[in-house]
Amino acid sequence: MKYALTVERLQKILSQAGVASRRAAERLIVEGRVSVNGQTVRELGSKADPAADEIRVDGRRIRKETLRRYILLNKPTGYVTTRSDPERRSTVMELLRGIREYIYPVGRLDYDTEGLLLLTNDGDLAARLTHPRHEVPRVYEVEVAGVPDEHDLDRISRGVTIDGRRTEPARVELGPGRHTTDATLRITIAEGRNRQVRRMFDSIGHPVDHLRRISIEIGRAHV
Ligand code: URA
Repeated sequence: MKYALTVERLQKILSQAGVASRRAAERLIVEGRVSVNGQTVRELGSKADPAADEIRVDGRRIRKETLRRYILLNKPTGYVTTRSDPERRSTVMELLRGIREYIYPVGRLDYDTEGLLLLTNDGDLAARLTHPRHEVPRVYEVEVAGVPDEHDLDRISRGVTIDGRRTEPARVELGPGRHTTDATLRITIAEGRNRQVRRMFDSIGHPVDHLRRISIEIGRAHV
């Protein structure tokens, strides 16, 4: 009975043990790099009991308790938010030194976006922060070309259409400072669509010159 209660999907066990994100753990399984009690497992639905089974990745036994790591990085522009880039651009991992755990970025900032990026090996937290259901608000400071008027800001906050789908309501305000030829704004969105902030401002004719994430409002997530 105890066995039945502790049995979990292998990718969940691997991410909770800090081996990899859930998606990366699925790849490890499919690639045949994971074994349970000496048997290679390639099926994604496979389950195991982390307390009773011997689980290995590339022949190395996973530890039951791994130190949890949480790193808040002020990402500069010119780095890709991934562990490794097929195009061999610089990655955010190159900005970190001396971390032995397998940490990975939670969510993504574009190559040309700077600001707050969380990296961790806590698979549960990463899943909660990235699942659209939890709607974690993220705040960005944006410099745009030209000065959007009230009507433009109203359109952004009600939602604009990107790829045929409307964006969720957003909070947006002008400032700080006075504006003549370009403007700084703050926008809060709880979605994570590709290049979303840039495309929202493109859609009102005020392209983004500079984008920086300044906050991830974890306490205001719908959990
Ligand atoms: N929106 C964007 O357009 N880019 C980011 O990096 C983050 C949000």
